[in-house]
Amino acid sequence: MTEEAFDVVVVGSCMTDLVSQAPRLPKAGETIHGHKFFIGFGGKGANQCIQAARMGAKTAMVCKVGKDFFGENYIQNFKDNGVSTEFVGQTVDSATGAASIIVNDAVKTIFNPAPAIPDLDPEFYRASDVFCCNESEAELLTGVAVASIEDAGRAGEELLRRGCSSVIITLGSRGCVVLSAHEPSSPSHHIPTKPVTTVDTTGAGDSFIGALAFYMAHFPTMSLEEMARRANQVAGVSVQTIGTQASYPSKKDLPTDLF
Ligand SMILES: Nc1ncnc2c1ncn2[C@@H]1O[C@H](COP(=O)(O)OP(=O)(O)OP(=O)(O)O)[C@@H](O)[C@H]1O
Ligand SMILES: *[C@@H]1O[C@H](CO)[C@@H](O)[C@H](O)[C@H]1NC(C)=O
Repeated sequence: MTEEAFDVVVVGSCMTDLVSQAPRLPKAGETIHGHKFFIGFGGKGANQCIQAARMGAKTAMVCKVGKDFFGENYIQNFKDNGVSTEFVGQTVDSATGAASIIVNDAVKTIFNPAPAIPDLDPEFYRASDVFCCNESEAELLTGVAVASIEDAGRAGEELLRRGCSSVIITLGSRGCVVLSAHEPSSPSHHIPTKPVTTVDTTGAGDSFIGALAFYMAHFPTMSLEEMARRANQVAGVSVQTIGTQASYPSKKDLPTDLF
């Protein structure tokens, strides 16, 4: 990879979603009638990469897909969204997605501990520039029960103590909290989000992280609070329509003051 070739590079999972809609879940061995079926593109890493690409970042995905129809199809999805597939491998073994790391050409990193494990290697706290997780991940990692904005601040302070330089904890319709080790006097900032009509929140967290990666790459001097405020708005658009990547806005769908 030539230096500065990409704004955002995502290392993470890439999964094909096979979605069946049915009135209820079948019991073991039971066959029931469904009324809708669709194949969607998912995987937390790929979702984040697609959101950053749709906002206009030059992106590459680092992952492995199978040597099969779904793998071919996913590679085409990356191409359709302008994501470089130079580092997408194909294998006969299935890929496992556990955690994703986003790297941009300024060697800034976002670490998203999903799915979270309580005994995360302590190196991860120190190694990333922005540690970004949701309420339940923050709770699992820190042991601090996160029900309120104040609780999220406390969990964030614990993540700072473990060595994170900056922390963002997303809080669904309440937006997020941002903390920075460089500001010990006022460590926790709550960044609220505008109320919207929520249709489907699936993938909102990945939309947020993808947008954040875009801002870190394109506006390196912007404050983390401002990036979080804008990422709230992008993810807020994604919850207003159904689907994961299907609901992710492109630059043309977003207000110009976000760019
Ligand atoms: N109901 C909502 N209204 C407005 N914005 C929302 C809503 N839900 C989520 N968001 C936006 O999406 C961001 C991420 O949401 P959330 O904290 O629920 O992440 P998550 O739990 O990882 O999401 P998911 O697992 O559903 O992908 C929030 O910080 C906010 O900006
Ligand atoms: C946080 O993210 C994890 C992993 O993506 C997910 O399983 C969990 O439901 C999310 N928690 C909340 C509160 O949305």
